[in-house]
Amino acid sequence: MSSVPYTYETSTLMDGVVALGVHAFPQDALGDDTVVIEPHYIGICRADVKEVIGSRDVMGDRGPLFGHELVGTVSFSGAGTGLQKGDVVTLNPNITPTRTTGFAEYVFVHGTKEVLEQAVIRVPEPEIQNSIWMPEPFACIVHALRKFLELTNLPSLAGKKVGIIGAGCAGLMFAMYARHLGASVSVFNRGEMRRTFAREREILTEDEIHSLEDAKAHQNEFDAVIVAPTVSSTDILETAAAMAADEAVLLVYGGTRKGDSFPLGQRDVDAIRREERIESAVHNGKRLGISGAYGCSKEDYEEGYRLHARHPHEFPLERLASRQIGLDDFPALIMGMATGAEDYPGKVLIGIGAQR
Ligand SMILES: NC(=O)c1ccc[n+]([C@@H]2O[C@H](COP(=O)([O-])OP(=O)(O)OC[C@H]3O[C@@H](n4cnc5c(N)ncnc54)[C@H](OP(=O)(O)O)[C@@H]3O)[C@@H](O)[C@H]2O)c1
Repeated sequence: MSSVPYTYETSTLMDGVVALGVHAFPQDALGDDTVVIEPHYIGICRADVKEVIGSRDVMGDRGPLFGHELVGTVSFSGAGTGLQKGDVVTLNPNITPTRTTGFAEYVFVHGTKEVLEQAVIRVPEPEIQNSIWMPEPFACIVHALRKFLELTNLPSLAGKKVGIIGAGCAGLMFAMYARHLGASVSVFNRGEMRRTFAREREILTEDEIHSLEDAKAHQNEFDAVIVAPTVSSTDILETAAAMAADEAVLLVYGGTRKGDSFPLGQRDVDAIRREERIESAVHNGKRLGISGAYGCSKEDYEEGYRLHARHPHEFPLERLASRQIGLDDFPALIMGMATGAEDYPGKVLIGIGAQR
């Protein structure tokens, strides 16, 4: 770094409370194995909110997710990192727990060159800073559908009818990618706000977005049902199973916790999701596959960049951004989201470098 600051602003999450504070800049941390990123934009993910509430199981191998969706510039790269000062990068939070939160003016990531190559990923689109979208959640969607094709031995989704539960960021990106892979999509969302958002932003057509209540009118209809709400509860999995045709496959993507099962007491859906397996089950006389996907890899980011660059009309990821705030307003906003007092469709972004 040309001039190392004495202090920097960073958020902390402690005992369910998010605070922003000025902390000493850890000058000792600038070693050969360190990359320092100055975020331009950070996205708020539902997983961040869950960590505030304490309703998410944190995996030891990758650590907490709080503040993991970001696009920023490398402002310091240690000699052994393989990165360069000035590189525009994003994070893959699935690789190492030795990183600090993205809800900050600086993010510190430590690791070997091999680890950092997977964890700190260059963004090939310079224009992303003016037309912002979040590579990490899209890479997870790319990963999940590629894994689904692999587990089901399908070359594509051509001609398939895909039902999606949840029109949050995940559900809308699943709709984009499933359509790209040849499927017809129907997205079912509980509340009106996200349905209106999907229509008004022209992410989904009138025929593609439905109330979750309407799922009852679509029983036995879908070749695949993607379960992408905040939590893959038993109720929602029951709805997904009812929507599925005989021999259809469910893709469990929304949150699960240790011990969750579906059909109740039969299949360990938390393990299926985290270990990315497919298992068969018979439920109400119907033969179903139950599959899962979890996280993403560098290749999924690269495929995400390729899809966005080559097919911008099919992947209007920028339209997911619904609101932009500054870092100062972040603690109150996420605490409001945690209590349920505030809710926004699409993606809320925090502009940091963009504010300077
Ligand atoms: N498997 C993976 O690798 C992976 C990666 C990233 C995220 N995820 C999961 O994906 C989930 C969704 O992420 P997101 O970014 O789409 O979140 P989001 O934008 O906050 O959307 C949340 C969605 O869940 C719905 N929902 C919440 N509670 C519900 C309920 N009780 N019944 C029916 N619908 C309900 C919401 O519907 P309303 O509009 O009605 O509130 C909304 O559609 C996350 O919570 C996380 O668990 C998984």
